[in-house]
Amino acid sequence: MPLVPMRILLDHAAENSYGVAALNVNNMEQIQAIMEAAKETDSPVIIQASRGARKYTNDAYLRHLMLAAVELYPKIPIAMHQDHGNSPATCKSAIEQGFTSVMMDGSLSEDGKTPSDYAYNVKVTKEVVDAAHAVGVTVEGEIGVLGGIEDGHGAGGSGLEHVTDPAMAEKFVADTGVDALAVAIGTSHGAYKFAKKPTGDVLKMDIIEEIHRRLPNCHLVMHGSSSVPRSLVDLINKYGGKLKESYGVPVEQIQRGIKHGVRKVNVDTDNRLAITAAIRQVFSETPEKFDPRDYLGPAREMMKKVCIERMTAFGQAGNAGKIKIKTCKEMVGSYRK
Ligand code: G3H
Ligand code: 13P
Ligand code: ZN
Repeated sequence: MPLVPMRILLDHAAENSYGVAALNVNNMEQIQAIMEAAKETDSPVIIQASRGARKYTNDAYLRHLMLAAVELYPKIPIAMHQDHGNSPATCKSAIEQGFTSVMMDGSLSEDGKTPSDYAYNVKVTKEVVDAAHAVGVTVEGEIGVLGGIEDGHGAGGSGLEHVTDPAMAEKFVADTGVDALAVAIGTSHGAYKFAKKPTGDVLKMDIIEEIHRRLPNCHLVMHGSSSVPRSLVDLINKYGGKLKESYGVPVEQIQRGIKHGVRKVNVDTDNRLAITAAIRQVFSETPEKFDPRDYLGPAREMMKKVCIERMTAFGQAGNAGKIKIKTCKEMVGSYRK
């Protein structure tokens, strides 16, 4: 099967009350780790690439790696998603490269840092929805702004400054026609999200519940959803790393979100931690090694383990074979209706 539109994966997830991990990639080993985890758990796959990832890989390498995944895993539906598109031009270039889903993050201006206003967000998002739906590609929008700035996506601060207003979320979906909506509930990207295990005053799961009440048919997206497992942080530090103590989003809070309309769960940092932990361990325990396969192999294995855990916890495991596939071309008709 070809790369599939993300919308059909999210629709199936909604019909069957589960969530799908959206996993970031920058290289072959990460794609392999995800695909092996998906094969082992029979999970549908959302692979996403940030602008930085597209620059790092060069679109052509990424496109061909994704086509290799499609060829090697014919039974697993795979959607290829642009993470945090900063402008309609970025999203349109992703579509030209064969992405089957794009995020137009109009909650920030084109610089990826400065919060924009509602009118700007609607304008750029609607422009992307019109272009994408004309070719059956899925669109994710964002309302409210993530905290943090570690990776260049976010407005700084604790993440509570620009939490999503549920009424505005409702209006935004009506004004733009997005397939999926990212909401800001106090999370941020990267390893440093919360100073202690988050409680409801900093991780606002109640906002998700309110948005889901207002928009029961909209697929919600949680960004910054890494759990930052203590075991991985400890392993990195044991082998010479210097990560500060930090807390991520507990898996049980994500599961609570999934009960209330969250269908796409963005995870990047946990896989980065897994890769780094494995590589540090090899370097430290066997410093005589210098064949990249000797450390990239274990890194891939460690990332696969994290992916299996998330795919199982979010409920997508066991669903790959149950999804009725539609191509982007077939989606065009559904959007026209
Ligand atoms: O959106 C955040 C992801 O973790 C990607 O980060 O821009 O460093 O590739 P990145
Ligand atoms: P984490 O940094 O928590 O993994 O979040 C990733 C993300 O939201 C990508 O868009
Ligand atoms: Zn994000």
